Amino acid sequence: MAQLSLLNISGKDEARQRLQVLRQELNLHAYRYYVLDDPILADAEYDLLFQELVALEQQHPELITADSPSQRVGGSPLAQFETVPHSLPMLSLENAFTDDDLVDFEERLLRFLQSTEQISYVTEPKLDGLAVELVYDDGLFVLGSTRGDGLIGENISQNLKTIPTIPLRLHTQDGVGIPKRLEVRGEVFIGLADFKKLNEERGRAGEPLFANPRNGAAGSLRQLDPRITASRPLDFYAYGVSDPAALPCQNQYELLQYLGSLGFKINPLVHLCQSITEVIGQFTQLQSQRSALAYDIDGMVVKVNDFALQGRLGAKARSPRWAIAAKFPASQATTRLLAVEFGVGRTGAITPVAILEPVQVGGVMVSRATLHNEDELRRKGLMLGDTVLVQRAGDVIPEVVKPVKENRTGQEQPITMPRLCPECNQPLIRAGQEAITRCPNPDCPAQRVRGLIHFTGKSGMDIEGLGKKAVEQLVTQGLIQDIPDIYQLTVETLASLDGWGNKSAENAVRAIEGSRTPTLAKFLAALGIRHVGEVTAQLLAHHFTSLARLLLAGEADFLHIEGIGAQVATSLVDYFQDPAVQEMLDRLEALGVRVQEEKPDAGANGALAGSVFLFTGALAQLSRHEAKARIKELGGQVASGISRKVTYVVLGDSPGSKLTKARELGLTVITENEFLRLIGR
Ligand code: IVH
Repeated sequence: MAQLSLLNISGKDEARQRLQVLRQELNLHAYRYYVLDDPILADAEYDLLFQELVALEQQHPELITADSPSQRVGGSPLAQFETVPHSLPMLSLENAFTDDDLVDFEERLLRFLQSTEQISYVTEPKLDGLAVELVYDDGLFVLGSTRGDGLIGENISQNLKTIPTIPLRLHTQDGVGIPKRLEVRGEVFIGLADFKKLNEERGRAGEPLFANPRNGAAGSLRQLDPRITASRPLDFYAYGVSDPAALPCQNQYELLQYLGSLGFKINPLVHLCQSITEVIGQFTQLQSQRSALAYDIDGMVVKVNDFALQGRLGAKARSPRWAIAAKFPASQATTRLLAVEFGVGRTGAITPVAILEPVQVGGVMVSRATLHNEDELRRKGLMLGDTVLVQRAGDVIPEVVKPVKENRTGQEQPITMPRLCPECNQPLIRAGQEAITRCPNPDCPAQRVRGLIHFTGKSGMDIEGLGKKAVEQLVTQGLIQDIPDIYQLTVETLASLDGWGNKSAENAVRAIEGSRTPTLAKFLAALGIRHVGEVTAQLLAHHFTSLARLLLAGEADFLHIEGIGAQVATSLVDYFQDPAVQEMLDRLEALGVRVQEEKPDAGANGALAGSVFLFTGALAQLSRHEAKARIKELGGQVASGISRKVTYVVLGDSPGSKLTKARELGLTVITENEFLRLIGR
């Protein structure tokens, strides 16, 4: 135990030694207090030690280390957050809403694995906070980031350092067994009692209240000044790592214990279940515990325990196959439907929006909810003035479930769909089987604005400084009408606008400049082609690798791409054949926008890009389904019939006639083991 008196230490060596003792002591006591909730030192004693540390560090600033407790609030305010790529994507989870969904989940797993084995699972409360990643080099915290879009997050290290349950240095016995680099993932949140206190303080200070703990946590983490973050009662539970391969753990349950031993807080309600039936039991139990918990949860995460199995199951584009989020039933409330407004979307779709008497649903004030389209509106049988049931499931956007017909007074009015576009007065059309009514006018101002907002926005080119408000302003002022106009904006023009200054204008123009060489995938997603979102844009980019090649493609070429169906293919053809689009692309080129060629093997997923596989005979070590999924993950393709396009014929047990044909065509035939090596198994 350390001396509690303030010693007068003058020698540098002595100071160094004393500081080391103080750091260890303070870190240990903070750990006991915050993580274990089992303090063995009085607050006043802790404060004395802390004061001694700070005084000594002031005398010897050169002896301050990154893991010193004094460094939790160190940094000065930032101008903005830097972006940081995640070394491995931070995926999200698919949802299960019922017990049956969980049974289906297990059936999917077994089908994928082509197995009937018993699978064990780990269940973890699903905290409703913010996912973050913490990077430790040789045990020292060096970087912390938000999830962002899953691939790229924001560097919020300074803010994360202020959270007392995030270790600045990993605990070990003399540094034994610490990985060179460890990327820990988990949830930052605010407990319910702390949240209440925080809002009370804000109320007294006349500051706006946070709608719920999640918003409070998000708002606190996004502060550029770490001192503000430090004043907020943030907490952290670790639930995983980016890659467990090099760790001394075979499964999720061991990993959680391991993370606990490194000093992280692990949720005590984690369970190891031997069957999906046990998982369902846990779900029921957790639901009954929910209201008594000290923090908000919106469900339970179910993970296949065994890492080898997780590896075999792999991931889809956005979520791993080996985990699912079992969500609690939505929270509901009733309120009145005051009006229905009709919005015009980027593709001209007319969307009815319910205007509601404001009501609290699951901790959030709801006053608007989308009604999606006319069919949905009719199916629900809503009338103006109805009492309606509104629900929110977790972070899902609020929706109107149904009218409460018992409450009708006879005063309710029917809802009529407009026949003319509310923005440009053109007659609306509803084509064929489509549920969507559209404004057919490509020059409709609403569509133009939404299209431009999409182009500059996060799922498009992500041009900082040209957010929704700025784009609306530029369009209203007649400064931009279409995408190429953006590339003609100058600092002078922007700086002369209301609310703009030289600095913001310069920043925006710099951001526009930075967007002149987009990747093909980003550019395609930004165009806002109907039915072409980020995932489809990536497929197209991967396949065609350059804009020039894509522009030569016809419907049949699009249909050949795995994951692209008739609807998307038609939409692509319609779009690129439109003379207005062709003119726009020409103008962009003339203005110096150069869409980059996609490198065929770019990124972690490209190891097999360009290779086409064909299977003949049964595989012994993995199912064909798994093999195919793995190939696709690595950017390769799988052929169903033999042709000269096939790069590798994979030979299984009792091969069929494909082998003879392959030999005739002189194709490369490889064994299952050779194949496994190719896919890195
Ligand atoms: S695992 C690949 N475990 O839920 C696995 N996520 O969509 C992805 N979350 O925002 C995450 N508690 O931050 C996992 N015990 C838990 C979790 C958890 C909360 C959040 C996560 C993300 C979302 C997943």
